[in-house]
Amino acid sequence: MRLTLKNVAYIYPDGTVALRGVDLEAKGGEITFLLGENGSGKTTLMLIVAGLLDPTGGRILLDDAPLGRDYRRSCGIMLQDPRDQLIGSSVWEDVSLAPKQLGLDDDTVEERTREALRFFGLEELSYKSPLRLSRGQAARVVLAGLLAHDPDILLLDEPWTSLDEDGVRRLLEMVRMFREKGRIVIISSQNSDMACEVADMVHLMKRGEIVVSGTAGEVLSRVDLMREAGIRPAIVPLISRVLLPSDPVELKLESLLNRLKRCFQSDEAGSG
Ligand SMILES: Nc1ncnc2c1ncn2[C@@H]1O[C@H](COP(=O)(O)OP(=O)(O)OP(=O)(O)O)[C@@H](O)[C@H]1O
Ligand SMILES: [Mg+2]
Repeated sequence: MRLTLKNVAYIYPDGTVALRGVDLEAKGGEITFLLGENGSGKTTLMLIVAGLLDPTGGRILLDDAPLGRDYRRSCGIMLQDPRDQLIGSSVWEDVSLAPKQLGLDDDTVEERTREALRFFGLEELSYKSPLRLSRGQAARVVLAGLLAHDPDILLLDEPWTSLDEDGVRRLLEMVRMFREKGRIVIISSQNSDMACEVADMVHLMKRGEIVVSGTAGEVLSRVDLMREAGIRPAIVPLISRVLLPSDPVELKLESLLNRLKRCFQSDEAGSG
């Protein structure tokens, strides 16, 4: 599966030019990361990819063909403020909404809903009104809904802002599951540390344009590029460059720690 954006533009009714000719390719089985400062156009782009806004210019293709009538159904999006998208009268109802709309049988809907609630630790909240949830709980409910939906194209707009450590761990597990299944996953954020954790391809956005695209290693190890785009450089590659200057730059904390451990162990063995 491959989603291609060609010269996509968007101008809001008040005249704000939010996107100025974006070219982007997002492949199934890869996590595509949009990294950009406030106002750079990430949310606008996500809404367009989800089919919730029509671009004012350019084209979107799925596997080289124009988007079909069922396209919107094959997308699942988590909005930047997840509380905007909870509409059911209970958490259970919200999470079961998408699988129900897919026309799955009652047993499958129930099984998917139960499993998704369990995955995000929400079993005890299943009868609660979504309007009375904390922000982080609301984020978990939206994610559980997407897990139950199991869409071909998963779009997450700043998904971790209100999640605690456990929530982030479960979210990362979920996006990796989608990657394993060959789905298209697009995440937008201004957080370069999270990009290091999870991104395969990174696109730096600034003022409605993609200014740099490349693999996570190519983009996230370039402090200069991120500073130019108004993004705080990620910590792990910075430390990696200082402590292990002759090695390839590490992006993931765990790999950096393992490498440092091996260095110290070989130093000790050498001096002992
Ligand atoms: N409804 C709207 N009407 C007019 N202009 C808008 C609207 N929504 C967004 N914009 C403008 O479009 C541009 C891109 O906004 P967008 O929300 O896509 O940025 P973003 O990268 O998601 O920012 P953030 O990091 O703050 O979420 C900004 O200049 C913003 O002011
Ligand atoms: Mg945004």
